[in-house]
Amino acid sequence: MDYKTLVAQTLAEQIGDVLSEEQIYQLLEKPKSSDHGDIAFPVFSLAKTYRKAPQQIAADLGEKISNPAFEKVVVVGPYLNFFLNKEMVSDEVLKAILKEGAAYGNQTVGQGRNIPIDLSSPNIAKPISMGHLRSTVIGNAIANIVQKIGYNPIKINHLGDWGTQFGKLIVAYKLWGDEEKVKAEPIQELLRLYVQFHEVAEEKTELEDEARAWFKKLEDGDTEATELWSWFREESLSEFNHIYQLLGIEFDSYNGEAFYNDKMDEIIEIMEEKHLLQENRGAEIVDLEKYNLNPALIRKSDGATLYITRDLAAALYRKRNYDFAQSIYVVGNEQSNHFKQLKAVLLEMGFDWSNDMVHTPFGLITQGGKKLSTRKGKIVLLEEVLNEATKLAKEQISAKNPDLADKDAVAKDVGVGAVVFHDLKNDRMNNFDFVLEEVVRFEGETGPYVQYTHARSKSILRKAGQTPNHAASLALTDPYSWEVIKVLKEFPETVMKSYEKLEPSVIAKHSIQLAQYFNRFYANVKVLEDHPEKEGRIALVEAVSTVLKEDLRLLGLNAPNEM
Ligand code: ARG
Repeated sequence: MDYKTLVAQTLAEQIGDVLSEEQIYQLLEKPKSSDHGDIAFPVFSLAKTYRKAPQQIAADLGEKISNPAFEKVVVVGPYLNFFLNKEMVSDEVLKAILKEGAAYGNQTVGQGRNIPIDLSSPNIAKPISMGHLRSTVIGNAIANIVQKIGYNPIKINHLGDWGTQFGKLIVAYKLWGDEEKVKAEPIQELLRLYVQFHEVAEEKTELEDEARAWFKKLEDGDTEATELWSWFREESLSEFNHIYQLLGIEFDSYNGEAFYNDKMDEIIEIMEEKHLLQENRGAEIVDLEKYNLNPALIRKSDGATLYITRDLAAALYRKRNYDFAQSIYVVGNEQSNHFKQLKAVLLEMGFDWSNDMVHTPFGLITQGGKKLSTRKGKIVLLEEVLNEATKLAKEQISAKNPDLADKDAVAKDVGVGAVVFHDLKNDRMNNFDFVLEEVVRFEGETGPYVQYTHARSKSILRKAGQTPNHAASLALTDPYSWEVIKVLKEFPETVMKSYEKLEPSVIAKHSIQLAQYFNRFYANVKVLEDHPEKEGRIALVEAVSTVLKEDLRLLGLNAPNEM
């Protein structure tokens, strides 16, 4: 039972004529300090009806309430504060977690409906950027979260594998390329060719025409062009896959922009039927003035389609193929206009499911306060960051626990976990400055701290040498347990909240709080000593271990049993 609901129900029995149970529920607060109780009801909104001072109303109301679920009900200023019955609540919460295990907090609101999530989506032949890393880890966490509440997430890596730049690459490769070099270091070599193309084309402008011609060939399915393109794509993808493997992230689809090459004609036809296209200096645009947006450029004067044209085709494809409840795009905030235009054009085309498309933006990673730039060579190579973090993790682990088996696997979980958690712990819209020492920090509010706390709970359970007896009373009465119990109890609502805001940081904060309270509990309560509440204490350790692991899993981190 959710105790907020119980409080709302109990109050509604008294004041249901003034406020509905739902309204009361919405008004309930969490007292600032737990000395003041667990759930607080502000009585202001009753003052008009009862024509009494708020304190008096609270006092009168408090006297009428008696329910064994509440230890006491106290008036604090204009608030009526409820203290939950610790024994009852702890027994109930712990039993639920022991019984449900990792399924604790699972919900059915999604009813199995599909939510495609567009994430990662790097561009072929270019290095994967920190922005793409953010999209990957945020998108992956969101996929886990929507799954936890009963949706079916579909992770789509919408690769940037189409566009005029492929014409340029083909020209550059044919002029200066070397197969062996591309195979050895695909991204670096392809990037080098791309840069060389631009340098040379400044003088020899006819190269631009050649590039356009090659892209046209590619669009028309020419064999040589297609073979080169698909080879570049595969080589790039295999390099991206190193990073995905390090992160432990898999995709359900790699349908990128190229996949929609033969699906754009239909989009253009629908627009023509609806008379949406206007000519503008040879190009075709859709006017979006009534949305207060710049016109969307759909087709260039040479007939070439654009990024947004492919996104229009992709959106329609996803609707038809997945009949989605929502369609989520985890893409940097700098593309927010693009997504506004995309949604507006779809509305103009008569697709009201456009309203179920959600752009989930995130802030920039900066360095020294400045935007990271690929062109000026300031790019931080992601793989290096992940490897460096793993190396530092291994040093720390070897110092703390020299006998640990499988150190390399644990170091990878912890090193990569540090990078991922660092990204997810703050609101996704916050910008953050990239400082390697910060990213791979293990103390304080970090992934390794949560992982370490989880491993500690496992070690306590090993020492206890017993699994909690589900049938026994698991009631706990000390104040340290109580703080832990409350955070455990909040887990299901926390998952829901993180879904409503599409905000993994809500889960990250929950895990930090749970770890902190648990460590405080462990420092003050002798779990392994003989005590009437020993059974409950061991159950609490197990419940914490289960929920911390689930918090970490939702964020995309592993939870090693020892470290
Ligand atoms: N490839 C794009 C970029 O790197 C991101 C694609 C995002 N997804 C989308 N459906 N537009 O900027």
